[in-house]
Parts: sequence; C-alpha cells; structure tokens
Amino acid sequence: CMYISGVPGTGKTATVHEVIRRLKSDYSDMVPCFKFIEINGMKLTNPNQAYSAILKLLTGQKATPDHAASLLEKKFCNPEPKKDHVVILVDELDLLWTRKQNVMYNLFDWPARQHSRLVILAVANTMDLPERVMMNRVSSRLGLTRITFQPYNFKQLQEIVLSRITGIEAFEEHALQLVARKVAAVSGDARRCLDICRRAVEIAEMSNEKKNPLKGIVGMKHVEIALKEMFSSPKILALQSLSTMEVLFMKAVISEFRRTGLEEALFFEVFEQFRSHCQIEGFFTPNASEAFAICSSLNACKFLLVEPGYKDIYQRIRLNVNKDDVMFAFKCSENK
Ligand SMILES: Nc1ncnc2c1ncn2[C@@H]1O[C@H](COP(=O)(O)OP(=O)(O)OP(=O)(O)O)[C@@H](O)[C@H]1O
Ligand SMILES: [Mg+2]
Repeated sequence: CMYISGVPGTGKTATVHEVIRRLKSDYSDMVPCFKFIEINGMKLTNPNQAYSAILKLLTGQKATPDHAASLLEKKFCNPEPKKDHVVILVDELDLLWTRKQNVMYNLFDWPARQHSRLVILAVANTMDLPERVMMNRVSSRLGLTRITFQPYNFKQLQEIVLSRITGIEAFEEHALQLVARKVAAVSGDARRCLDICRRAVEIAEMSNEKKNPLKGIVGMKHVEIALKEMFSSPKILALQSLSTMEVLFMKAVISEFRRTGLEEALFFEVFEQFRSHCQIEGFFTPNASEAFAICSSLNACKFLLVEPGYKDIYQRIRLNVNKDDVMFAFKCSENK
C-alpha cells in the first residue's frame, strides 16, 4: 500500500496516472502484467459503495456493498495459483471516512495479506489518515510507503503552464510570471494556476475579438483582471472584514495545522499559537476565555468548524474555508 498525500493541486492524481501509463508502455517488460483500476471517493455516494465499485471494475459483477466486500475479501486473502496482479488507485480517500472505518481499514489491510497480489495507491489531502484509521495499532505492520507532495514553486508552475502551450505564443512572459508568482505565494496549486490562465485567455479573446482576432496574446492587463476575479470572491471579501484578533486566530489555526501536518487541532494547541502570534504582532495577549469568544464567533460565521459540546480546551477545530483563500485574503489586506 502506498499512501500519497499533499494539498490540492500538487499533481498527485496526475503523477499517478503518468506513472501507470509509463509502466504500461515503456516498462511493460520489466514489471509483471497488472490490471489497473481507479475509484474516487468523491464519486461514491456512500463509503461502502467502494466495495461494489471495485468489484464491478475488477470482474464486471454487480453486488451489494456487503456481498461485494465478502467476495473481495475472498479474492485478496485466499491463495490462488494464477491470480492477476491488481493495482487500485483510491483517489480522494479522505472522503471514504466512516465511523466504523471498515472501508479504509480493509483498503490498507488487504495489500498486506500474503496472497493478495494487490497494490493500493491511496491518495488523500490529509497526512495522518493511516494513523487515525489504524489508531497506531497496526500501522507499522502495513508496510506503508508514504509520499508527500509539496506545493509547486513559481518556476514549476510556470513550466506546467508552458508545457501545455508549447509552440503557441499565447502569453507574454511577464504575464505568465505574474500568475505563477501569485499562485506560488499563496498555495502552489497547479489547478488554480491553470484556471487563472484559462480565464485570462478568455478575457483576452473577448477584448481582442473586436480589434484583431489574429493577435491573441495574453498580456499583463488580462492576467490582472483574471487574478482579481479569482481572488475577490465574496468569501475572500468576508475574510478581509474580520477583526484583527479574529485574523490572528485564523492564522494561529493555520500555523498549528502547518506545525502538525494535520487538518485538525485542539483548542489549547491553537491557543498557544494564538498567544505567540499576538506577542509577535505586539498585541496584548488575550486569556483563554477571550480566545474562546473569538473562536466561537469564527465558528458562528462558519469560517471554523468547532466541535460542539463541553470539552473546553480539548475541543477540536477545523477550517471551513480553503486555506489558500484565507492566506490570500490576509496577504492582500496586509498589502493595502
Ligand atoms: N507536474 C505537472 N505537469 C503538468 N501538469 C500538472 C502537473 N502537476 C499538476 N498538473 C495539472 O494540475 C492540475 C491538478 O493536478 P492534480 O489533479 O494531479 O492534483 P491533485 O494533487 O490530485 O489535487 P487534489 O488533491 O485536489 O485531487 C491537473 O490539471 C494536472 O494536469
Ligand atoms: Mg487528485
């Protein structure tokens, strides 16, 4: 089982597809023949359907999730002389999360069985899913290989865009650089970078239509409009209207996520970060109950998701908005 994690748009799905394609074409004599199938957590209405989906793709058989689960269990766990090798890409694994964890547990467990001949490529945004699923009991037994994808830097983003438009003089160099730099500064998300470029092309096409349809080069001004559109959604404007303390609290949440590599933190951990952010910025440091008030006001406007109940400092906190949007919003308001 290989566990691939990284923030959105860092090329996880694209890389897996490319590696499989290369294995099938260029290296087919070096690796045993294998069957590749792919499921996506986002496309399943219920985590248990993963079983039915895998069975259907493997054998063409239709079955209820329960039945499919037992058939798959048999297939992967019993010895059989001429069994095919199977590689399953489970994309957006985060979404297969259930209280009972059966689905994820099996996905991690099957490849470890002696006769499975199975490779699972699990792709997710969160780094610590295996630990959470296995609760540290057996995660070592899994023989898990981990790969973490880092956000792209501006040079890489620029290359990705250029590789899509080789041979076409579509962008002015400075214009493309601006997009790549902006996106790299915020998130390094290749998808967003491509989206902005696509929008800039549309804008350029529209403005050039009237004048000279042949001259379709995308310039600085088109890119600037596209960037502005992309980064001035109502959500970003709402984030920019938060109070200073609320902003610091949001930043503290993000710092804590960054420190731990997780997408969830406990209140007291965030509080520690919050205090140091306040000190760095030269504000008087609020006490825990003031911080609670700030936290619940952010919860009320749904920027944060705070676990309900009376767990006080052990309340779990998650972000309810995209981290990139938050960073971007705050960066912009700092520059004003
Ligand atoms: N190295 C690369 N070269 C060319 N294109 C790339 C590269 N990395 C990413 N892309 C493009 O960027 C977009 C996003 O990449 P991809 O879908 O692989 O991201 P992801 O990491 O799977 O994100 P998510 O976590 O949201 O699923 C795709 O359109 C992909 O083709
Ligand atoms: Mg993906």
